[in-house]
Amino acid sequence: MIGIAYALIALIILILVPWVGIQGLGLTYLFGVIIPYAAMAIFFFGVLQRLLKWSRIPNPFKIPTTGGQQKSLNWIRQSKFDNPSSTGQVIGRVLSEVFLFRSLFRNLSPRVGTQGTSVTYASAKWLWIFAILFHYAMFTTVFRHLRFFTNPVPWPVGFVEGFDGWLEVGIPQVMISGLVLLCAVCLLLARRLVIPRLRYISLMNDFFPLFLLIAIATTGALMRYIVGINVPSVKELVMGLVSFRPVMIEGIGLLFYIHIFLVSTLLAYFPFSKLMHAGGIFFSPTRSMANDNRAVHHDNPWNYTVKFHTYDAFEEEFRDKMTEAGIPLDDTLSSSTGKD
Ligand code: HEM
Repeated sequence: MIGIAYALIALIILILVPWVGIQGLGLTYLFGVIIPYAAMAIFFFGVLQRLLKWSRIPNPFKIPTTGGQQKSLNWIRQSKFDNPSSTGQVIGRVLSEVFLFRSLFRNLSPRVGTQGTSVTYASAKWLWIFAILFHYAMFTTVFRHLRFFTNPVPWPVGFVEGFDGWLEVGIPQVMISGLVLLCAVCLLLARRLVIPRLRYISLMNDFFPLFLLIAIATTGALMRYIVGINVPSVKELVMGLVSFRPVMIEGIGLLFYIHIFLVSTLLAYFPFSKLMHAGGIFFSPTRSMANDNRAVHHDNPWNYTVKFHTYDAFEEEFRDKMTEAGIPLDDTLSSSTGKD
């Protein structure tokens, strides 16, 4: 439980820093321009560096995880998703993982029978449901935020916003994705707190991103539904940032600076955290390799190039010495036995 305490303390500090910085010291340029730029740079170069590093790691063996019939004789039906044998099938498998979290859907959880003698495996879909809700809600919320970063706002952003607010309640309109995001992250956190064996293995780095996301979604919701925010001023500030002509706008509430500081922290933390699974999935050899071991030779990239010295070359090199010592030569043997 020490991990959760550290994560909570870190979050409190992360909220207090912009609070003191803006309210007490008036450092709007630091929190509105310098820190967001620095966070973007760390995010961009950090992610790039990790992806490049992963892309250079050789795969000595073909190790796809298989869970179905391998490609075999024509009349035996192959399981193309669970045992892909071509690049196309691998792409299908990875995409189903990225968009549908397919392996998580197939997740099973073991249960010990009432007598304690038998173990059964039952379908466990809760984690899949929370994960799907969280990731799609997060994507939709971030996508909707493009209205701050673009001028004119592209029509898909307006379309998603209209779709997201289909309940048509509240002023400003309630956006479902923002609330689903908050609920889903809370459920993911509750899962770690309520299930004893999960609590046991959870570390600070498991709790911290969840706390950070809860705080980001909460400050966002407070701005939208309770405290209110000067949206045109936010847009002016953000447009200045994206056009690399930063301008300082007065009169944007403290809550916005806390929101943006937490987002900056998330961005800077991303490349060094487990959140990099977003890019790691594409470099996971158990998912991204085809199971074609028997059909295609896989060169182990770790093998150094072997300089062969064939027997023919050896014989050629030592012909005189071998003849002198009376050692039979292969070519004379083959001509005398009539072998070619
Ligand atoms: C990881 C990235 C981010 C997440 C997860 C996030 C999340 C949220 C959420 C859940 C809301 C509540 C309202 C809604 O559902 O739209 C919100 C509102 C808001 N966010 Fe973010 N946000 C992120 C990044 C940013 C950035 C980079 C900005 C800078 C412009 C920003 C500015 C705002 C503002 C101004 C609001 C209030 C919107 C309104 O009043 O309509 N957010 N955010």
